[in-house]
Amino acid sequence: MLVRKEVNVMRRIEIFDTTLRDGEQSPGVALNADEKLQIAHQLAKLGVNVLEAGFPIASPGDFEGVRRIAQEVRSVSVAALARANAKDIECAWQALSGGASPRIHTFIATSPIHMLYKLQKSPEEVLEQAIEAVRLAKSKVSDIEFSAEDASRSEVDFLAKVFSGVIKAGATVLNIPDTVGYATPEEYTAFIRAVMERTIGIEKVKVSVHCHNDLGLAVANSLAAVGAGVHQLECTVNGIGERAGNAALEELVMALRTRRDQYSVETSIVTTEIARTSQMVSRLTGMIIQHNKAIVGKNAFAHESGIHQDGVLKERSTYEIMSPSVIGIDVESIVLGKHSGRHAVHQRLTDLGLDLAEDQFEDVFARFKQLADRKRDVTTADLFSLAQVQKEKADQITLEYLQVSSGTHLVPTATIGLMYNGERLEDAACGDGPVDAAFKAIDKVLGTRGTLSHYSLQALDGGEDAQGEVAVTVKFGENLVGGRGVSTDIIEASVRGYLQAVNRAFVRGWIKVREKNAR
Ligand code: KIV
Ligand code: ZN
Repeated sequence: MLVRKEVNVMRRIEIFDTTLRDGEQSPGVALNADEKLQIAHQLAKLGVNVLEAGFPIASPGDFEGVRRIAQEVRSVSVAALARANAKDIECAWQALSGGASPRIHTFIATSPIHMLYKLQKSPEEVLEQAIEAVRLAKSKVSDIEFSAEDASRSEVDFLAKVFSGVIKAGATVLNIPDTVGYATPEEYTAFIRAVMERTIGIEKVKVSVHCHNDLGLAVANSLAAVGAGVHQLECTVNGIGERAGNAALEELVMALRTRRDQYSVETSIVTTEIARTSQMVSRLTGMIIQHNKAIVGKNAFAHESGIHQDGVLKERSTYEIMSPSVIGIDVESIVLGKHSGRHAVHQRLTDLGLDLAEDQFEDVFARFKQLADRKRDVTTADLFSLAQVQKEKADQITLEYLQVSSGTHLVPTATIGLMYNGERLEDAACGDGPVDAAFKAIDKVLGTRGTLSHYSLQALDGGEDAQGEVAVTVKFGENLVGGRGVSTDIIEASVRGYLQAVNRAFVRGWIKVREKNAR
């Protein structure tokens, strides 16, 4: 006998992740090619459909990052950004060529305000340039995304005309960004519907949105766009990005999943990888996640009031609309401590996506044992920081020793020894406090001049024996760069954070380091 089953097929929404492009444009963030590759592998594991790897024309470092990701991450589509001109498009194509599923993402502004003041071009010129750009990109690769920058402040008829033109030229995805975070949900839905209705050939392409968070509406606007029938959502992990950032991937995905009764769509995201990805992005970019951040903040699943705790103990769903395990929190069943052996530590590192070479693992394991002697439980956050210290060894300027004296009636003084080019460089400095003295001593040793624009200190996780984690943003000349350091000693954590910023600035050529014999 045949049994008829109700099959509820949900519409699939694609997730276009731009953490490595728009996210990397956050003030103070500067990832090197290795760090970008590490995040790209994790994004592939997370299950994003498209990964925007960078803006190749922007710098040789960006080009290299996109090239390596396109070569090595082959399970997802890899996109590269290009302005609507031949030089950018050639460069994007060179970076992507050899990739398994490349997409050129080209853009030009279409709003009256951008065309008049920024581009100083007439709408006809913009239309022509958009079509030319897409035509050129199409001669290189089949998958072309076209973005109308500042679309939400553009005129509907003009936007539809540009979109109709680029579809004819070969675009496969049309993006309607809310570039300046100005839209409101109801207005944005109506706008997208109107543009889609008036665009000739719209049924042949996918429609995408890309929302910024200037009014805190990026996620709400993206979800509203789902209601208008779009096929792709652009977002970043932890919502990082230009100014107030982009729509946060984890918030979008969990809203669509938790309220699928409302949205009736699904994504391919492996939600149990969300927490891990969020932590990796935070650690490598140096951008700390606010404690009350939805989904991935430290307090997102913490119940403080007695009434709430009582309710949760009786029945979790009283105050919990999602289970933390769904996003990959609390998956560790084995507690690591001083009795843990090589196998357990190795397994946990592998589970965290931290694949280390044998000698690197031995070093991390030795540090793990030292830490476990000082701390009862070694947490996931601790393991990340141990692996990070291992990576510091690849830095060109490393900490050899640090000595600080400070107290109520003492002038804070720091003496620093750094290794650079196989030589030890040393000097001492006084400052307003021990951290200031240590940073000044580093600058004195290296002949650099950094200005601290942000400093924060937090415990890596709960408990009196938690390690201190310091995040800094330092300005060298015109360039802002972030760094992060972890240690049980907060002055040492500060120095490690500052040195990470120095190393990042150094590899980008933003600072020069004084040689020993030039001192
Ligand atoms: O915000 C924006 O408009 C962009 C485009 C390049 C898509 O980032
Ligand atoms: Zn953007």
